[in-house]
Amino acid sequence: MSDAKPIQEQTLAEQGAATSEGIAALFAEVRARFDAETSRLAAGDLPAWTALRNAWLGRSSGVITAIGDSWLKPAPLDAKRVVGKALNELKAHVERTLEELRARAEAAGEAGTAAGGVDLSLPGLRRALGTRHPICQTLEELERIFLSIGFSVVEGPEIETPYYNFEALNIPEHHPARDTMDTFYLSLPKGSPELLLRTHTSPMQIHTMEQQQPPVRIIVPGRVYRRDNPDSTHSFAFHQIEGLAVDTDITFCEFKGTVEYFVREFLGPKTRTRLRPSYFPFTEPSAEVDASCFACDGKGCRICKQAGWIELFGSGMVDPAVYGFVNYDAKRLSGFAFGMGVERMAMMRYGISDIQLLYQNDVRFLRQFQ
Ligand code: PHE
Repeated sequence: MSDAKPIQEQTLAEQGAATSEGIAALFAEVRARFDAETSRLAAGDLPAWTALRNAWLGRSSGVITAIGDSWLKPAPLDAKRVVGKALNELKAHVERTLEELRARAEAAGEAGTAAGGVDLSLPGLRRALGTRHPICQTLEELERIFLSIGFSVVEGPEIETPYYNFEALNIPEHHPARDTMDTFYLSLPKGSPELLLRTHTSPMQIHTMEQQQPPVRIIVPGRVYRRDNPDSTHSFAFHQIEGLAVDTDITFCEFKGTVEYFVREFLGPKTRTRLRPSYFPFTEPSAEVDASCFACDGKGCRICKQAGWIELFGSGMVDPAVYGFVNYDAKRLSGFAFGMGVERMAMMRYGISDIQLLYQNDVRFLRQFQ
């Protein structure tokens, strides 16, 4: 049973150590154990150092105290001097070694903080803040203006059927208007119904009128696609905002008034508006909305190509034929629609000369719109 007790808790008599050599051998064994334990201590590991100190120098249960209690106190008088001297030497060795280790542990800890820890006195890292993209800013500004006069915002799918993108907008197959909006068709298994990327946001006119009765006052921001070759004014993907208002008493006056209000809000109170006859299969009459040139105020300059006017967007009164596709009563109802290119609006607003700049995500460009 005595084997189970550590040697510092067994009396010398129990261990059969009567001679000075026997006593010295026991002390050497304990000291070797201490040296082995300290050699395993990792530099900078202060909690492990504290545990080691308590195990060896702890007042009530440390090894040094146990040796005093079990070896020194019960030793016969003649052995007491030898044991006392050896114990003092061991204690001094333990104290000195632990003190050295503490100093080393603290130094290593400080070095660790300087190298990898947190130094709260250092200046912080400045992270570059992103900004909203100019297209996004323009979209939000356009939405703000139309929301303020009672329009609400709806969104729709970018993949459409030819019916919504063309037929229901009064553009039958083989109609020449399709040529101006050549698009991307999805490659699907043979026999599946045709799907395409919408060429304009106008399909949402049809979706909306199918789903709700008048009064309708909506704008539709979104991405559209066309098979155009990229240049400074064309991109195969761009953004539009569609507008549609249908009610029982909407005349050309409401249409013109709304358009003029919008142009003044967007380009400034001095801007004049001009409606120029145009053609879209789904509006009748149709008009291009021009604004007096923001750069020369209509006198003629390089930006407006000496015209004094800048083309803004296409629009018109909803063609009664369209109402036929959505079961609206064309005799009772009337309305207007418009569709504007958001990039075009952004380019005018900010004086951007190349549409491609909007898609390159060069921070030197984007930073200018903070
Ligand atoms: N959808 C037309 C286009 O993309 C624009 C438009 C919308 C014209 C609504 C009139 C009415 O060119």
